[in-house]
Amino acid sequence: MSTPVMHATRPAARLALNGGTPVSATPVPFMKPQLHRADIDAAIAVLESGMLRAAGRCEELERRLAEMSDARHGLTCSNGTTALQLAYGALFSPGDEILVPAWTYIATVSMVVAAGCTPVFVDCLEDTFQMDPADAVRKVTPRTRGIAATHLYGCPVDIDAFQSLAAKHGLKVVYDAAQSHLARYAGRGIGAFGGAVTYSFYATKNLGTGEGGLLTVNDDALAREIALLRSHGETEKYLHERIGFNYRMNDITGAIGCSRLDRLPAETAARQAAAARFDAVLADIDGLASPTVTPNAEAVWHLYTVKMDLSRFTCTRDEFCAALKAEGVPTAVHYPRATVDQPALAAWNRHDTPVASSLSERVFCLPMHHALTEDHFRVIEGSLRKVAEAFRA
Ligand SMILES: Cc1ncc(COP(=O)(O)O)c(C=O)c1O
Repeated sequence: MSTPVMHATRPAARLALNGGTPVSATPVPFMKPQLHRADIDAAIAVLESGMLRAAGRCEELERRLAEMSDARHGLTCSNGTTALQLAYGALFSPGDEILVPAWTYIATVSMVVAAGCTPVFVDCLEDTFQMDPADAVRKVTPRTRGIAATHLYGCPVDIDAFQSLAAKHGLKVVYDAAQSHLARYAGRGIGAFGGAVTYSFYATKNLGTGEGGLLTVNDDALAREIALLRSHGETEKYLHERIGFNYRMNDITGAIGCSRLDRLPAETAARQAAAARFDAVLADIDGLASPTVTPNAEAVWHLYTVKMDLSRFTCTRDEFCAALKAEGVPTAVHYPRATVDQPALAAWNRHDTPVASSLSERVFCLPMHHALTEDHFRVIEGSLRKVAEAFRA
């Protein structure tokens, strides 16, 4: 009589997606944009005071975030998009060519168009996902007047390279730090570099207030110009010396921002610790690469973006993420379409940014926030290993 052959359960059959037991029945939260009692009390105090417009709490947020990022001036505004509009409006002129990232959130580029300027797309680097300084050098023309660079996912770009390029050609630089509150470069806060740095306080950002934005600048005249643009060019009550907008914040938002800023350094440290743990896990999984940080930069990990080598798996990125979700690990794709490939920007797409255009098929973001627990790390690591093994080519 022959002995029966024992087949180990095949890895794909064990996936929760295929009816197997999930690594965790409770999903890991993807993010944790949670208000504390202190934030709510700070907002209530403003409501009770009756001072609803931009006043003391906005000024406090401006002063503190500027100080913490090594900048001279802070200016609150209504959101990260209007922060970009104010910076571009103050620094660029219609018709200017501005170097922009092909891989970012659309606002970095669409506000260049809104300012009447011409965006010139620069590819991103394969390992950091950040704007590629070497491609920027290639894209400079006699009409180039500025650079709009995003510190994407919480990681600063190669600021030295962009500042040298700017100095060589007399360009003005705006850094979009909507995702990078408290990031650092070469030992200094990112507010120390460039013409203006812009922030978003959208609900899910590292410093989220619901909506809100801020700019930091180091030049006194530029700060005055942005303040004018922000509030209808008004130099004294009902005297409007130039055309501007109402892009002001309000003190309810300012109070929530100040209260959350108290916790931001500790929450940032927790994100950095989480990123280090993910790096260690991914170093051991063939075909999944952790994001590389720009040399000299300190990232604050708004998003932790994993890159897949699809040749090492039998599945697509979307199938991989569906399997992770079934195991208890939600993911997100930032971004499912490169900025350069957005229909709204087709007129400026020269199809010469291949890295950006191909990334959208190959990246996904793991849960990243300050409140990840040991159990969450266990679920994330277990799920990554299980799914990678199941789809191994
Ligand atoms: C890189 C980047 N720039 C600009 C913005 C726009 O900020 P807001 O949504 O506050 O207008 C965002 C927000 O998603 C962003 O991620």
